[in-house]
Amino acid sequence: MRIIKNQLFCLKSIIYIVNPKYFFKNLKGEKCMSKILVTGGAGFIGSHTCVELLNAGYDIVIVDNLYNSNEKSLDRVKELTGKDFSFYQYDIRDKENMRKVFENHKIDACIHFAGLKAVGESVEKPLEYYDNNIAGTLVLVEVMRNHGCKNIIFSSSATVYGDPVEIPITENCPKGGCTNPYGWTKSMLEQVLMDVQKSDNEWNVVILRYFNPVGAHASGRIGENPNGIPNNLMPYITQVAVGKRAELGVFGNDYPTHDGTGVRDYIHVVDLANGHVAALKAIQSNCGTSIYNMGTGNGYSVLDMVNAFVKVNGVEVPYSIKPRRAGDIATCYCNPAKAKAELGWEAKFGIEEMVRDSWNWQRENPEGYR
Ligand code: NAD
Ligand code: WQD
Repeated sequence: MRIIKNQLFCLKSIIYIVNPKYFFKNLKGEKCMSKILVTGGAGFIGSHTCVELLNAGYDIVIVDNLYNSNEKSLDRVKELTGKDFSFYQYDIRDKENMRKVFENHKIDACIHFAGLKAVGESVEKPLEYYDNNIAGTLVLVEVMRNHGCKNIIFSSSATVYGDPVEIPITENCPKGGCTNPYGWTKSMLEQVLMDVQKSDNEWNVVILRYFNPVGAHASGRIGENPNGIPNNLMPYITQVAVGKRAELGVFGNDYPTHDGTGVRDYIHVVDLANGHVAALKAIQSNCGTSIYNMGTGNGYSVLDMVNAFVKVNGVEVPYSIKPRRAGDIATCYCNPAKAKAELGWEAKFGIEEMVRDSWNWQRENPEGYR
């Protein structure tokens, strides 16, 4: 058995060396893609992605200024994976410190989550949002380039489609006018990264447009930890269920949808995290610029989510119908076929796992990480 294994290994090695495809890919660094910088790694999506990266065997380095997160999430990432990593509490706008990170570590690729994400706040504080998200990314990309690291996965958003001209939304759907500065930062940064790649084809840029991430790690040890009143539906539902808020306001029941409430493409955060691991593999084969929708392709209404939550978890979620929220659209869900065809990735979890794991996290951590 051992002899056969050795012979197979030799055969594989010969194929690797004589096949120019593998040889050149290897020269371009495919075999060396092991150390990943995760900006915003202490946050909701970042912490779940770190778990999946560590489980997949990658080394990670995290930069997060903890503006919207808590270092405890990183302790729990270590606890869940049994693995260690470097963490720097730096702001990505701080060029000197970012240089130090790249000098201390030979980074192969960056997964860039760091950013401010509250839509309403961005309308009140546009300068802060443009500064943090745009100036921060410009610093990051410049430092990456100066250290010869030209591989980036960027957290974009379905918000770039505005009020979409097609449903389900494919990546070819034209970008729409954004209704808030947060959305514009994502749209502008997509353009910046595409221009950078166009100017230098050593860059690989993967833009992932997330739909509506929900859920939590099945262990209940990491999850979404919003400050103050949640803006998004799922953390609002869980806070009502745990007794922190009296009732959910359902924003409008007169949309042209099956029950009149807004329809969205909710995606389990662990599926989304694995989408990043799949995207790293695309980068390893030098994909240039690639854009992928990260959703399930299923549209659920606000009341579908509430009803599923109540049924699966056996808890009450009182709600009342409120006026529509300014800037909301009726329906938004994607066609995720491109990610399946090109990355071999598709969401595995359904609405039951989403509501179960969201509740498990909230019930186990009523005060989040505090
Ligand atoms: P999050 O706020 O939980 O995580 C973002 C992390 O970035 C936080 O830990 C924060 O402290 C850090 N950060 C912010 N600005 C920073 C800076 N200047 N320097 C260093 N660290 C900084 O948010 P999330 O939900 O995990 O989102 C991650 C990314 O995905 C964001 O870019 C967000 O815009 C994008 N996104 C999120 C959603 C969503 O619904 N959660 C949807 C689409 C896209
Ligand atoms: C979902 C549905 C609401 C709260 C936002 C950002 C988007 C992206 C994801 C970052 C809608 C309804 C909500 C509540 C409700 N983030 N709702 N009562 O608006 O699809 O997308 O988060 O990129 O950019 O805009 O998500 O969770 O806020 O709302 O009825 O208390 O739930 O009207 O129909 P949205 P959401």
